[in-house]
Amino acid sequence: MTDLLTEIEGLEKQFGEEIEKLHHSNEILHLKATYLGKSGHLSSILKKMGGVSAEDRPTIGQKANILKGKIEEECQRLLDSLKRGALSEKTEKEKLDITLPVPELVGYLHPISQVRQEVEEIFVGLGFQVHEGQEIESDYYNFEALNIPANHPARDMQDTFYIDVGATLRGCPAKEGGHTGPPLLLRTHTSPVQIHVMERQKAPIAMIAPGTVYRRDSDASHTPMFHQVEGLLVDEGVRFSDLKGVLELFVHEFFGKKTIVRFRPSYFPFTEPSAEVDISCLFCGGTGNNCSVCKRSGWLEVMGCGMVSPAVFKKVGYDSRRYSGFAFGMGIERMAMLKFGVNDIRLFFENDMRFLKQF
Ligand code: DAH
Repeated sequence: MTDLLTEIEGLEKQFGEEIEKLHHSNEILHLKATYLGKSGHLSSILKKMGGVSAEDRPTIGQKANILKGKIEEECQRLLDSLKRGALSEKTEKEKLDITLPVPELVGYLHPISQVRQEVEEIFVGLGFQVHEGQEIESDYYNFEALNIPANHPARDMQDTFYIDVGATLRGCPAKEGGHTGPPLLLRTHTSPVQIHVMERQKAPIAMIAPGTVYRRDSDASHTPMFHQVEGLLVDEGVRFSDLKGVLELFVHEFFGKKTIVRFRPSYFPFTEPSAEVDISCLFCGGTGNNCSVCKRSGWLEVMGCGMVSPAVFKKVGYDSRRYSGFAFGMGIERMAMLKFGVNDIRLFFENDMRFLKQF
């Protein structure tokens, strides 16, 4: 036993002397391997344990373990200090000032995403589910199924971008189930999600569908790409008063409890009756006095809504004698502009940090 103990002690001394001379990290890693590797110095000593009596083995084992720990520790310490040395040499050479503050700008959500999330949270809190739908639609889902047939005047307000399917598929034969016939387009509103969800699911339904939509429009209050949130609730016995209650609650959560809500008769092909939702002007407190935002009316239009038309229920195979429902749709940019007091919608998409940083 004493022989092996002496060998271990000798090894420790030898290691101490060898490591002193090293200045490079690969030399250190190499030294570590010659001591601790599979056929390294320490292992060859331990291989001789077979000849040691059972009572002496623990002492030798312990001693070997201590040495192993020491070698690992020493090597690591030297590696760390070399790394620090290299860094200070580098900062010296490159005149790198590591005390300079890190740029303060860490990524965060775009104001449109912030508003979208806030709207989602309010409706999810009321038990609505979130559906996304798709941005490329067929004429059927975007118009027909929503009771907007070809040549209906309502189409004029929603001119969009059509996709030349022939060109897209040229040279690539239409696969089974692929799109071969009617035109595809970028959806002009999120309303087609109503149809997809009702086709897939039976009532009761309570859903919202936030997403990107497109129209051929461009001025201070329109961009060719913008965002909407659609809402749909269908069940037995749903009434207009339910619609009023839900939207009033939403407006109070989103714009504040003092906001007054008004429903004004309107027309949409997919709802009957239909209404526009106005809120008391957030900028003049509803007085209209000299207010350019509400054009002196005291009211701001925030969304369209109504009771789902029986014509729509028919398209999706719902029995309109049994079920009734309400739907609504709002523009996210419009909500954001009113909430933050932004007067030009294009500001949201110019990616000017001086603008975006304010939210
Ligand atoms: N889809 C309409 C638009 O983009 C907005 C709308 C109005 C949606 C009334 C609805 C609704 O669900 O009931 O102009």
